[in-house]
Amino acid sequence: MAISTQWSCVDLEISDGVAWVTLNRPEKRNAMNPTLNAEMLEVLEALDAEPEAAVLVLTGAGEAFSAGMDLKEYFREVDEQPDHVQRRVRRDSMGWQWRTLRTYPKPTIAMVNGWCFGGAFTPLVACDLAVAADEATFGLSEINWGIPPGGNVSRALAETVGTRDAMLYIMTGRTFDGPRAAAMGLVNQSVPRAELRKAVAALADELKAKNPVVLRAAKLGFRHCQEMSWEAAEDFLYAKLEQSQFLDREGGRAAGLEQFLDRKSMRPGLQTYQRDADQHR
Ligand code: COA
Repeated sequence: MAISTQWSCVDLEISDGVAWVTLNRPEKRNAMNPTLNAEMLEVLEALDAEPEAAVLVLTGAGEAFSAGMDLKEYFREVDEQPDHVQRRVRRDSMGWQWRTLRTYPKPTIAMVNGWCFGGAFTPLVACDLAVAADEATFGLSEINWGIPPGGNVSRALAETVGTRDAMLYIMTGRTFDGPRAAAMGLVNQSVPRAELRKAVAALADELKAKNPVVLRAAKLGFRHCQEMSWEAAEDFLYAKLEQSQFLDREGGRAAGLEQFLDRKSMRPGLQTYQRDADQHR
């Protein structure tokens, strides 16, 4: 599928099983305005239903991943709107940035190509995995323009980085680069910008080779169990395991056991079982 021009602030390209979703306001450093937020809700909805999209990559056009919330169109202009409009604008923003993305049915990768500030941390962390360019610049810049981090930014930090790092960057607004983001666990990996797309495509290929039903159960199991007691988590994770067997039409578990134990054609410690190409269309 060629790049879709259906949306004014988002580009979508689906190629080789990967949906490359690009926040596309490069002249505003991909700052997230109400239009972009509403469009992202539609994009995520559309991709959930798109069989050609197995993995979703979120990135930004030009030199930014995203400069965070749009200070003019999301803050100043919306301040003047009636309460119900303000509520809707916030709902759309949170609706895609974490509520939909964090438990998205397909695997998601944030590809942080450049500037990444404030509100952009929420979708960054809501993606399952993240790869940054070494040259990317991150910052919790809210303190620099007079607000504490909102939009679940602090919650996203609490999920990924340690207290000392979170407090330092929240309180000072200092910037940091890709390698530092990787060192503190905010992203999985940092690579030179010239190699970023290739590294993300390789990671997407790895995910594409897995059974999608099992992958979904695995990621949602991890997301949700963090907030449970050990007892509840044990029950929930066994329920997820049983649910994935029930929903898995390609019978991954039986194939995996057969290929390892009977045919001895693969070792699960080292590779994925061979999936039947006809079965998982
Ligand atoms: N909201 C609204 N507009 C923004 C924006 C934001 N978050 N970030 C950038 N822009 C706009 C600028 O106002 C400018 O618009 P103009 O050309 O109409 O004047 C344009 O994008 C380019 O920005 P500029 O500052 O000239 O680009 P730069 O490459 O020199 O610097 C940044 C890039 C990201 C460092 C800088 O734009 C910045 O600090 N942005 C704000 C980051 C921020 O605090 N985000 C909010 C977090 S809650």
